[in-house]
Amino acid sequence: MRKIPVQSQSGKKYDILIGHNILDQIGSYIKKLNVGNSAFIITSPRIGKLYLSTVENSLKKTGIKDISSNFIPDGERYKNEKSYKKLIDNIVQFNKTDDKKIFVLNLGGGVIGDLGGFVAATYNRGIGYVQVPTTLLAFVDCGIGGKVGINYSSTKNILGAFHQPALVYADLDLLKTLPLRELKSGLAEVVKYGAIRSPELFEFIEDNLNRIFSLETKAIEKIVIDGYSIKAAIVRKDEFDQKNIRIILNFGHTIGHAVESASKYAYRHGEAISIGMVCANDIAVKLGLLDKSLAARVENLLLKIGLPVKIKNHDINTIMNFFWKDKKFTSGRNKFVLLNKLGTTKIIQDVPINVITNVIKNRFTK
Ligand SMILES: NC(=O)c1ccc[n+]([C@@H]2O[C@H](COP(=O)([O-])OP(=O)(O)OC[C@H]3O[C@@H](n4cnc5c(N)ncnc54)[C@H](O)[C@@H]3O)[C@@H](O)[C@H]2O)c1
Repeated sequence: MRKIPVQSQSGKKYDILIGHNILDQIGSYIKKLNVGNSAFIITSPRIGKLYLSTVENSLKKTGIKDISSNFIPDGERYKNEKSYKKLIDNIVQFNKTDDKKIFVLNLGGGVIGDLGGFVAATYNRGIGYVQVPTTLLAFVDCGIGGKVGINYSSTKNILGAFHQPALVYADLDLLKTLPLRELKSGLAEVVKYGAIRSPELFEFIEDNLNRIFSLETKAIEKIVIDGYSIKAAIVRKDEFDQKNIRIILNFGHTIGHAVESASKYAYRHGEAISIGMVCANDIAVKLGLLDKSLAARVENLLLKIGLPVKIKNHDINTIMNFFWKDKKFTSGRNKFVLLNKLGTTKIIQDVPINVITNVIKNRFTK
C-alpha cells in the first residue's frame, strides 16, 4: 500500500492510502483514526450493490457495528439541496440518542464525495469523514483538497465549504467495474494535471493510452499517484483558494462548468472539462499566449481518449448565462486560467467577450 501524507495550510493532516484489493481492510485503518464509532455511509444504489457489504463487514469486524447506510440516486442532478436535506434528516435520526460520535463515509464518485463531504462539513458544525473514491475522476481530483458542496438552482457547486477528510482510502481495483465512459471522463482531469503542471505526465498519457484503458496496474498507479501528488502540492500551498495558486486547477473549468450546466448535465464532468480545455486553448492562441501546435497536441490527445472537443445542441445565450455565474469572477470581471507552455499557465482577467463567444460558437457542432 502506498501512502501520500497531506498537510493543509491550516495544519490539518491526513493520509491518502492507495492500493489494490484493499477495501476489505478499511475498517482497521478507520479504527486507528479515532474519527468515530458510528458510521454514516453515503453511496448510490449501483455502487452500494458492488461494494457496500465489503465496507460494512470490514467496519463490523473492527467493532464499528453502529452503521447507517444511505443511498442517493446516481447523477449530477442529485448533487442538490433535496439529497442534502434527506441526508441531514437521516443523520439527525441516526443520532437520536445524541451520545454518538458519528463519522461520514463517502463510497462513490465525485457526486457522492462532494455531497457527503458537505453533509460532514455542516452537520454539528463539522464532523470527520472518510473518502472512498470509486471513479478515476474521484481518485485523482475530488477525494482530496477539502472542497465539498452541492449545486443549487442549476448553479454548480454554489453551496459549499472547505472541509478536509480524515482519510482518503483508494482501492484501485474498484476501477474494474467502472464504465468506459466514466474512465474517459476521469482521464480528462489527468490530462489537465499534465497540461498545467507536468509535461512528463502528459507525455506518459500520450504514450500509454492502451495500458491505461486495459487498467494495467503500473499505468493506473502512475496516473493516480501523479494526479494526487500534483493536487496535494497545490492544495498545500493554497488550501482556501486565495493565493492565485489553487486557481490553476480550474484550467478548462470556466467554460467547462458553463457547458456542463447548460447541457443539464448531459455531459459528464470530465467531458465538459475536455471542451473547456480546448476552448481555453483557443482563447490562449487568439491572445498570442499559446502556440497553435501545442493547442493541437492537447486536442489530439483528448480526441484519442475519446473525449468531446465540440459542443452539441446548445445555444450561446444559455452557456453565457451560466458562464457569468462562475464563482471566480468578481465585480463582473471574468478570469481565465490559460495554458502558456506545457506545464505552465497564466491567469488572465477581462478576456474580451467577443473572443469568448466566438471561441465557443466555433466549437458548436450538429
Ligand atoms: N471537490 C472537488 O475537488 C472536485 C473536483 C473535481 C470534480 N468534482 C465533482 O465530481 C463530480 C463528478 O464526479 P464523477 O465523475 O466521479 O461522477 P459520479 O460521481 O456521478 O459517478 C459516475 C457514475 O459512475 C458510477 N460509478 C462510480 N464508481 C463506480 C464503480 N467503481 N463501478 C461502477 N460504477 C461506478 C456511478 O454510479 C455514477 O453513475 C462533479 O459533481 C464535479 O463537480 C469535485
